[in-house]
Amino acid sequence: MVFRHLLRGRAQADAPGALRQARLYDLMSLVVFNRHRRRVYGRIVELSGAQPGDRVLDVGCGPGYLTALAAGAVASEGDAVGIDPSEPMIDRARQVRGHGNCSFELGKAEALTAPDASFDVVLSSLALHHGPEAARAKAISEMYRVLRPGGCAVVVDFRPPQGRLGQHLAGVLAGNDMRHNPIDRLAPMAQDAGFTSVTSGDLGFSLHYVRAYRPVSP
Ligand SMILES: C[S@@+](CC[C@H](N)C(=O)[O-])C[C@H]1O[C@@H](n2cnc3c(N)ncnc32)[C@H](O)[C@@H]1O
Repeated sequence: MVFRHLLRGRAQADAPGALRQARLYDLMSLVVFNRHRRRVYGRIVELSGAQPGDRVLDVGCGPGYLTALAAGAVASEGDAVGIDPSEPMIDRARQVRGHGNCSFELGKAEALTAPDASFDVVLSSLALHHGPEAARAKAISEMYRVLRPGGCAVVVDFRPPQGRLGQHLAGVLAGNDMRHNPIDRLAPMAQDAGFTSVTSGDLGFSLHYVRAYRPVSP
């Protein structure tokens, strides 16, 4: 719970999972991933196959590190938009990374405001475990809705430790959502939402990804 409390700050009534300590989160992410941050997050963009000219949505973007990498991959002919319910996260993301083709908006994973089929790629890293399981399924079906047919979603989240000591530590440091994060439910949820070609794997740092495509024809 320690990090979670620190990062959450005052609870946000309309989004209980929102993290409000944006600068602290950005710093912690830099410290935890250290010199591997670019490689790990770059791999997420690479897995999505984002190409110059594509439109990318980053769901639960926090301070926008992944959004900015995606904006680089799609070049000036494309664009990347990060959404997050936390105003301090969006303010920081705009301040530090909101330039050129990279922008940020307030929003929630389970109720995206983007029109149907408006993105080529949807990314989400370390955000879905902040909501209850029903909201996660809703978030994944929202990702499906805003993707164009043939578009790709890559969702990354924590894989909880296997051993009892590791699980206990995860609970103490990050809270029960993290300790019991049902990561193996992500791929079936993607299938239930209509995604096909669903594959998954690990990225190191206890991160697990699921990659899925919206079928070209329903
Ligand atoms: C651990 S941070 C991850 C930030 C960023 N994606 C990264 O990988 O560094 C989780 C983010 O999810 C956001 N979040 C919480 N509830 C959310 C929701 N319902 N919809 C979208 N994002 C949410 C938090 O505000 C926070 O910025």
